[in-house]
Amino acid sequence: MGPTAYLRATGTEHHVLALHEKPQAGLLSVGLAAADTAAVDALYSRAIGFGADVIDAPEALDPLAGGGYGFSFRTPDGIVQKISSGVETHRDRINDRKRPSKLSHVVTRAADFPKLRSFYCDLLAFKLSDATDGIDFLRCSRDHHSVALARADGAGMHHMAFEMPDLDSLMYASGHMRAKGYELEWGVGRHSGPGNNIFSFFIEPNGFAAEYTTEMEQVDDATYPQRDAQWWRENRPRGGPCAWGMATQRSERLVKARLGKLAADVDGCDAAISHHVA
Ligand SMILES: [Fe+2]
Repeated sequence: MGPTAYLRATGTEHHVLALHEKPQAGLLSVGLAAADTAAVDALYSRAIGFGADVIDAPEALDPLAGGGYGFSFRTPDGIVQKISSGVETHRDRINDRKRPSKLSHVVTRAADFPKLRSFYCDLLAFKLSDATDGIDFLRCSRDHHSVALARADGAGMHHMAFEMPDLDSLMYASGHMRAKGYELEWGVGRHSGPGNNIFSFFIEPNGFAAEYTTEMEQVDDATYPQRDAQWWRENRPRGGPCAWGMATQRSERLVKARLGKLAADVDGCDAAISHHVA
């Protein structure tokens, strides 16, 4: 593997995205943080019991990636999942509201949908917030979703979303992207469906869909009314996918990017790896 860049957001996490130079673009792994080493060991035991395709046992992790302790295994679709704890953190937050504060969520295309849902809920203890005909939205904190599964052939990344502090921040960041020559592929809008979050979508140089988001719905386990695909079918938002009626059609390029059909065309550039701390 060639050179690697670990990119941080303004929060204290060591990195939220790592780029490895590879001949072809691809999602290399998704990382999730466990509370401590005991939680890592417990998840490892559960993964073994679950019959997961475990790659390695818990061990000390690469200091260049912030160190810590963890292990990795594959989802039923073959996407590498890393579990870690004790990864180094930055001492200070960066005081810049025009930059993302953290990785908000990662959406992967799920080829083997029932197995994937069970994998995240039964093995990794995610909770299902909402299910539509197209996407399962899963949470592991108060955020409505941190991982989502999009029904589609071929496993891979559907999109990754970076959280902005507020709408003003999201507008600044989106304007900055346009000034740098990146087309706004969808948005700015507010999802009228699950999560109720504000969004703008771009396509990064590897051909992956990247979202800025803010105001993700905060969920209380005791009171949140989990809704299934039938509920969403019967209560489909009348105004379309944007509650404001502002964001209309997704661009054709974005549709292709979310199906992994742009990244496959990219040759000789970096591959992405997302590191998400729950
Ligand atoms: Fe999203």
